[in-house]
Amino acid sequence: MHYLRVIDVFKTKPVGLKVEIKGWVKSFRSSKNVSFVDINDGSCLKGIQAVIDDAASGAHEALTKLATGCSVLVRGTLVDSPAKGQEVELQVEYIEVIGESPDNYPLQKKRHSFEFLREIAHLRARTNSLGAVFRVRSALSFAVHNFFNERGFVHVHTPIISTGDCEGAGETFTVTAFDLKNVPLEKGAVDWRKDFFGEQANLTVSGQLEAEAYALALGNVYTFGPTFRAEDSNTSRHLAEFWMVEPEMAFCDLTADIDVAEEFLKYLIGYCISYCEEDIILFGEFIDTTLLGRLELVLSKPFARISYTEAIEILNKAKVDFTYPVFWGVDLQSEHERYLAEQVFELPVVLTDYPKEIKPFYMRANNDGRTVAAMDILFPGIGEMVGGSQREERVEVLTERMEALAMDLYQYQWYLDLRRYGSVPHAGFGLGFERIVQFCTGMKNIRDVIPFPRTPGSAGF
Ligand code: 4AD
Ligand code: MG
Repeated sequence: MHYLRVIDVFKTKPVGLKVEIKGWVKSFRSSKNVSFVDINDGSCLKGIQAVIDDAASGAHEALTKLATGCSVLVRGTLVDSPAKGQEVELQVEYIEVIGESPDNYPLQKKRHSFEFLREIAHLRARTNSLGAVFRVRSALSFAVHNFFNERGFVHVHTPIISTGDCEGAGETFTVTAFDLKNVPLEKGAVDWRKDFFGEQANLTVSGQLEAEAYALALGNVYTFGPTFRAEDSNTSRHLAEFWMVEPEMAFCDLTADIDVAEEFLKYLIGYCISYCEEDIILFGEFIDTTLLGRLELVLSKPFARISYTEAIEILNKAKVDFTYPVFWGVDLQSEHERYLAEQVFELPVVLTDYPKEIKPFYMRANNDGRTVAAMDILFPGIGEMVGGSQREERVEVLTERMEALAMDLYQYQWYLDLRRYGSVPHAGFGLGFERIVQFCTGMKNIRDVIPFPRTPGSAGF
């Protein structure tokens, strides 16, 4: 008797073989002396049909307990299936209900709204669509490591607890061991010296700065981990806890950085098309009929590349009533980013050389004195997918910029050391992992592509 996962049954279709299958009952129907049970074990989208004759061993007891959502173990022989849409089915010889599922099991219907499913995040992966999303998410995560591993990048685990705010946006979550009813004060302000770390610590907003230290030792590195932002944006593209992929490359300029980012994004999309075919077809049917075409289109052409300044000119000429005004120096809003990617280029578009005022301190100053070597990659339907830059490697220029921004230079001595000792031009970028999962699945809301979303007002189940 072989224990097989359903995916392996469909891969090998070993007709005549006796197998054991374990999974959850998606649906079942009974006629006179025979019942048909659709068993799904999560290994793939399709379930296997188990045909249970009333005379099968255990059938008498099992049939009294069988219900949508219950877990079962079945043993039997794989046979050619007369039913449409499946090549093999299981002729059951033994059945046992492992865990029952009473009538109040919330997933009784064939289709539920994503809003409803968000309320039962602990059960929603049992639905066809969310199960597919999380298989795709896993495949993409594997592809991230594959891509960098194939190219000789070293994977670095950067810390989650940090004392800096890489992006300088002041949207960090404090990490403290203080008894909040009795916080030590010094002249009316919190005395962080008495806290666990001896200074104020926070959850990291990005692993970039630490990745830079490792790039300047190991050459090409990447980090891939959770990042945390206390920005109060209740949108379909923002999470308070999200995963970010951040490569960092020594001896690399902005153009080479963009080249890697484009190759990387295409690799992830191509991987998804090749290895998640069944799930992508499901999304095409139920989520977004244009999905596969859109994925293939992105692979077929080079990304558009324009400067921020050119983008502002295009937006100013656009015959569209934007909610937010457009002028040189403004931080682009999602409506602007999507207009460029969806209406103007109908492709991912890379914007470069942003005004220094709207970008973080670490980006390399351009010779014009007013822009930095930044790049954002904007995707149709998503907006910003990637943000990156060449880093300022000149210690004097960097120090001057940090002083102008009134940053605590003492805290960043280690970062300046990287420029003092063997500094080199280097560059990197950050990919919002959930956003590429959204793009590859067509899911409209970012809360539906991370298992347990954390957003303003919601950190539990
Ligand atoms: O553009 P960001 O803020 O860049 C950085 O953090 C750099 N340190 C990256 C680097 O150069 N190493 O964030 C990078 C990407 C964004 O382009 C977006 O895709 C995603 O992270 N992102 C979010 N995703 C979900 N929820 C949020 N609140 C996000 N904020 C940024
Ligand atoms: Mg950004």
